[in-house]
Amino acid sequence: MADAQVLTDAAVLIDGDRIAWVGPRREAPVGAQHAAPVRTVEISGVLFPGFIDCHTHGVFGAPRLDDHERRALGLDYKAIAAAGGGILESVRDVRGRSESDLAALTRSRLEALLARGSTTIEVKSGYGLELEAELKQLRVIKRLGEMLPATLVPTFLGAHEVPPEYRGRRADYVRLICEEMIPAVVREQLAGCCDVFCEPGVFSSSESRQILEAAQRHGLRVKLHADEFEGSGGAELAAQLGALSADHLAAISDAGIRALGASDTVAVLLPATMIFLGKRSQAPARRLIEAGAAVALATDFNPGTSPTMSLPLIMALGVSQLGLRHAEVVTAVTINAAAALGLAGERGQIAAGYVADLVLAPVDDWREVAYWMGADLVSAVWTAGSACPA
Ligand code: NIG
Ligand code: FE
Repeated sequence: MADAQVLTDAAVLIDGDRIAWVGPRREAPVGAQHAAPVRTVEISGVLFPGFIDCHTHGVFGAPRLDDHERRALGLDYKAIAAAGGGILESVRDVRGRSESDLAALTRSRLEALLARGSTTIEVKSGYGLELEAELKQLRVIKRLGEMLPATLVPTFLGAHEVPPEYRGRRADYVRLICEEMIPAVVREQLAGCCDVFCEPGVFSSSESRQILEAAQRHGLRVKLHADEFEGSGGAELAAQLGALSADHLAAISDAGIRALGASDTVAVLLPATMIFLGKRSQAPARRLIEAGAAVALATDFNPGTSPTMSLPLIMALGVSQLGLRHAEVVTAVTINAAAALGLAGERGQIAAGYVADLVLAPVDDWREVAYWMGADLVSAVWTAGSACPA
């Protein structure tokens, strides 16, 4: 992860939506195997692969300002949820909004992520918790994916919480997810991936397994919110299921670290979440890397635990809170984040054949992007070979 290749005085040739060549400018094969470029753009600064935000809950209505203040006064995340705040507050909100209202709110938020360099953004449902409201969120993602220059990767998260109407009969909700929601999502081709919030008091490991195995039978890839607050074997379950990623991991066990180290499941760490919740602990990033795990970083953008839209901020937190090196945080939001979405073969690198998603930061040293904390230094973005409007 620390092995970033940095070129100076470089050139990138783009053909259509793909990178055709990258290397020292004086060696650019213009006129040889490639025709003369139609257009040359001179840039100065550092060009990165487009950043990939591999974990967001980007479709929601209002911010949760009361939760924020209650937490400042000493209530914790689970106590706030038990008092009717938390995820279920956003669920009431999303259920009551029209698809076009949600689309307008989501659009401006995803545009803010893109302006800060996130060219590929995973977006989860999970604030509907009933068939129509979950489909409404996924349709918003699909619609915005067709309108925005960013690539949106939709994930079905019907198992984000048990909705109030299923309290006391949670097995029925799990059955609804497996037998009705997952088949409907697949039938309408609204998501390629399924996630579950596996946490004591939310979904147990055995319920999570049941849901994710149903998703796999329907051809979905799987991911897991695992070991966020209390360890419950989520990382081990993710590895056993061959999940694309296990996310959060602040309470991962030694066995969980070993399991991820020995698997292809990416460990997605979300440092802003722990900061915003006022927690002092963070996931054991260095131990995960030493065990052989691939670590990615993401915003976890959501109204309850991480309202940040800046992946460069997450990179800075990766260095200062998780003890990662600058090159490691760059790998974590490019190559490894692509792997967490099953896109490692086509995104996350400036290399021939990869999608031409690029971001420019007007800095002298590439490490500065993860240094000027909160400065959001990205000044230009290209997706699929085209410049995005500023
Ligand atoms: O990733 N942990 C579960 N889900 C979100 C929080 C969602 C919310 O509070 O609205 C998370 O932190
Ligand atoms: Fe999350």
